[in-house]
Amino acid sequence: MDVKTADKKFIANTYARADVVFVDGNGSLLTDDCGKKYIDFGSGIAVNVLGHKYAPWVKAVTEQAGKIAHTSNLYYSEPCVRLAVKLNERTGMKKVFFSNSGAEANECAIKCARKYSFDKYGVGRGKIVSLKGSFHGRTMATLTATGQEVFHNYFFPFPTGFDYAEPNDIEDLKEKADKETCAVMIELVQGEGGVVALNRDFVKKTEEFCREKDILLIVDEVQTGNGRTGSLYAYMQYGIKPDIVTTAKGLAGGLPLGATMMWDKCENTLSSGTHGSTFGGNPVACAGACAVLDGLTDSLLESVKKKATLIRDALLKMKKVKSVSGAGLMIGIETEGITAADAVKELRDKGLIVLTAKNKIRLLPALNISDEEVEAGLKIMNEVLK
Ligand SMILES: Cc1ncc(COP(=O)(O)O)c(C=O)c1O
Repeated sequence: MDVKTADKKFIANTYARADVVFVDGNGSLLTDDCGKKYIDFGSGIAVNVLGHKYAPWVKAVTEQAGKIAHTSNLYYSEPCVRLAVKLNERTGMKKVFFSNSGAEANECAIKCARKYSFDKYGVGRGKIVSLKGSFHGRTMATLTATGQEVFHNYFFPFPTGFDYAEPNDIEDLKEKADKETCAVMIELVQGEGGVVALNRDFVKKTEEFCREKDILLIVDEVQTGNGRTGSLYAYMQYGIKPDIVTTAKGLAGGLPLGATMMWDKCENTLSSGTHGSTFGGNPVACAGACAVLDGLTDSLLESVKKKATLIRDALLKMKKVKSVSGAGLMIGIETEGITAADAVKELRDKGLIVLTAKNKIRLLPALNISDEEVEAGLKIMNEVLK
């Protein structure tokens, strides 16, 4: 049985897969099982941040796999600690909990915020306020935190203790984040919600309000994190100090790893036995993440901003491009005269891999994509969107 037939027969039907089987990747170039080459402007939905077969990552991961692949969290693990130290040096975070995905990182943040509040104020202060249009994951709690009605189906009953405020409306947020609220959870650029950046003033005011009310500010950087917007984490460009930052996707450059970083207020909230994960902080994934963080140098982050400007300027000259949104190399394209879904298919046929986010085309290229690959990708985009 060929791959596609066996997939359809034996794998749950949750994904509407494109008609392609990738078998090799190199930098920002993918090859399918027929030998056709594609430029990758999607990086596995923001995962392969330094491209495919990034040499220091391959070395770190294979060396660690050749030593010890898993020990469990019952024992100390050097790669896990090395990664925590690097994250502390780069962000100033006080404690980190490692898991395996973005949803898990957010679950941990929700648990941490609720326990922080319970420890200090007792029961009745467990509400999480997120924003309409947000996406926080597929587990029951993170699905509920996701502020899009379309996801609140089928799986009733959903957990209680969640509410949703309008993005960029501080008065609505203040009203929703009442005295029963322990945390506000935001994405600084809503990714799945259409690549929409929050405005700076709203974010600043949200931070001030949370401080004043002792409500924890959770910033979900699962998609915006790890260099995507031109700083290691997007909150750094907004000039705020969140209490919790979650990340995953690009962190381990292609291996499953989630991180929930906690600052002063809640650094000791999660105590022995209150949370855990069999695979979280896996040595191979952490070794890969160390190589990724080392690769996300200041000069690379600077080049992200330059490439982003170049891509945005080029896109805005294309006739079917109505507007361009997002931040850094997290780019949303509103089209006219062609739907995003049709454009994605046409672009793929011509050898360019891009994504969608709601009704937009979404670009999430590797951060170290070469100028030649950018140019070649834009040439294909121009053929379809001119
Ligand atoms: C902002 C954000 N949070 C959470 C998630 C969930 O991450 P995962 O699929 O790794 O569980 C995603 C995934 O797209 C995301 O974009």
